[in-house]
Amino acid sequence: IEIALVGAPTDIGAGTRGASMGPQALRVAGLAAALERRGCRVLDTGDLAGPGNPWQRPVQGYRHLEQVVAWNARVFEAVTAQLQAGRLPLMMGGDHCLGVGSVGAVARHCRREGRPLRVFWLDAHTDFNTAWLTPSGNLHGMPVACLCGFGPPGLVDLGGSEPALQPEALRMIGIRSVDAGEREFVHEQGLDVYDMRTIDERGMRAVMEAALHGLPGDAHVHVSFDVDFLDPDYAPGVGTTVRGGPTWREAQLCMEMLADTGRVGSVDIVELNPALDVRNGTAEVAVELIESLFGKSTLVRRPR
Ligand code: ARG
Ligand code: MN
Ligand code: MN
Ligand code: MN
Repeated sequence: IEIALVGAPTDIGAGTRGASMGPQALRVAGLAAALERRGCRVLDTGDLAGPGNPWQRPVQGYRHLEQVVAWNARVFEAVTAQLQAGRLPLMMGGDHCLGVGSVGAVARHCRREGRPLRVFWLDAHTDFNTAWLTPSGNLHGMPVACLCGFGPPGLVDLGGSEPALQPEALRMIGIRSVDAGEREFVHEQGLDVYDMRTIDERGMRAVMEAALHGLPGDAHVHVSFDVDFLDPDYAPGVGTTVRGGPTWREAQLCMEMLADTGRVGSVDIVELNPALDVRNGTAEVAVELIESLFGKSTLVRRPR
């Protein structure tokens, strides 16, 4: 396979500055070389350009909506182009608001090819806020709602008039921070959420088996990896740390089980913030996990 790295250096949807440096931190941590070690060809398409961060307060529930729309339109276009060229797009954020453009492009591509899509949202947060529910106005807390059709014009209609995703296409892993109104909305929409309590009670293996259950043989798997998924002991370099996340080992197993499907067709790595990091350790951990997502394993293993 050929992987296309697409850099989207912005922190436009976040509440802390610095995720704009994520793409460079991943390059410095050796992302391309790690993928090449997995036998992939890698094309680094460079960084997209977009509006700067004016650092303003929210307007009618949204911070920087106009700029978030502009960045997502570029991400949508770039991810679409790579899918059409037959490459596996790996979007290097940037904050998680960019998931609207990335997953939106993947969803439209799958719809056109008649392939079922399953999105694995690895995150401490459900990112299911709306302008009415958000405590912050930060759009990185809203991409999943936008993808399901709940959000502003410019984001909900990026890939056409219907919502990019039905809630049934989503699996959320590692969740441990959901805002009060968001919690009700997650319940109402029936999102399939594997929170930390579930991981503690059942273990990562059983959780991933449940999340992967019934995956169609022809499915396209999208992995949207918000680095704050990881416990902050392992990944301090993110703007919205939440204690009590998956350990390095649990996260490795999660990635290995996704790799075992052989269905991973697109990836986001978002929210990495080297300004908050200790050396470049969080990016290095992210690269180690991506190697597992693309099949690194200690022993020769039989397909299951
Ligand atoms: N739920 C909080 C909010 O809406 C935090 C969202 C954090 N999202 C993220 N992608 N890191 O502001
Ligand atoms: Mn295709
Ligand atoms: Mn997120
Ligand atoms: Mn998060």
